[in-house]
Amino acid sequence: MNSAMFFEREDWKLFRNMDTLPKSKLSMLVCKELADNALDTCGGCEIGYEGGFFYVKDRGPGLDPEMFSISRPLRSSKYLRLPTRGALGNGLRVVVGAVVASGGELYVSTRGKNYKINFQNNGLALPESLSDYHEAGTKISFTLGEMPIILAWAHMAIEYARGETYRGKTSPYWYTSENFFELFQSFSGSVRELIAQFDGCTGGKAGKIAQKYLKTPADNLSFEETEAFLAELRALVKNVNPERLGRIGELGGWSGYCKSTGTFKVRTIKGEHEAELPFVLEVYADIADAPHITVLLNKSPATGEINVYHSKNELSIFGCGLFHRITPISAGT
Ligand SMILES: Nc1ncnc2c1ncn2[C@@H]1O[C@H](COP(=O)(O)OP(=O)(O)OP(=O)(O)O)[C@@H](O)[C@H]1O
Ligand SMILES: [Mg+2]
Repeated sequence: MNSAMFFEREDWKLFRNMDTLPKSKLSMLVCKELADNALDTCGGCEIGYEGGFFYVKDRGPGLDPEMFSISRPLRSSKYLRLPTRGALGNGLRVVVGAVVASGGELYVSTRGKNYKINFQNNGLALPESLSDYHEAGTKISFTLGEMPIILAWAHMAIEYARGETYRGKTSPYWYTSENFFELFQSFSGSVRELIAQFDGCTGGKAGKIAQKYLKTPADNLSFEETEAFLAELRALVKNVNPERLGRIGELGGWSGYCKSTGTFKVRTIKGEHEAELPFVLEVYADIADAPHITVLLNKSPATGEINVYHSKNELSIFGCGLFHRITPISAGT
């Protein structure tokens, strides 16, 4: 009998292959990911075209060009849960994947230098320093080969980057037992450093709680230990009131606006603690001939397919885990 032949492929390689990237919306997605990052880092963002390249520019703290290595592990400053646009550490990998797969080019200007990013077959980015960059923040310029660049989602993210922003810290109520353990596993600092990032846990309080593990690396803790920690942190503080989360607020050009707030729960499979996530829901509405819906999450467009369907007196919204039927108050009258 012939023995089977095995082939192996690291999963990051799927990101640089046109067959496995979402083609139809790819260029919109790439522009949105870059605009989201810029808005998350400093609240503002400039986009445009220059010399055949599309660029996204911000005035944030700058970015390590090594972050454009597509074979790096997921890396993010946003694993501490906050109402930011990004959360996974995947956006830049999608950008690089699209540039490589389409035969495009990518340049980054940050922290005093202009770099051309050369992509190697092993998925590492080789930043080639070209000249000095005299501005603050980061500018990312790219082409996607022959593919047209569509800015619709990036424009929308910029358009809605307004209103109030949450200024507080992450809350221990925003993690399930499992999320909290994974957060510790992904952090390379000490338990104390990590605990100090939480709402109500700065200085002395954090020190007291973390006393047992003062210099212990966060990723050394067992599930049972992080579970006990989570209970101690929750006992110190209340959950954040959804009114503090920020909002876009009323906008001109819409005939209807309403806002509601609440908290929803996310169950855990392992451990005892559910996550309790406060939310603000804002709805803008206008009278139109045909129903249409756009959904934003943390002020940036949701990329999944969400549809709205009208029949008789009912409006159904479905897709991305949503299924809602809305019946107008005046139905049947
Ligand atoms: N323009 C920027 N300025 C400063 N830091 C940035 C910028 N863009 C990205 N970063 C840093 O790089 C990290 C990775 O970015 P990436 O877009 O890959 O993931 P993310 O934004 O954390 O999550 P998501 O996958 O949901 O986009 C970010 O968490 C942030 O710390
Ligand atoms: Mg991002």
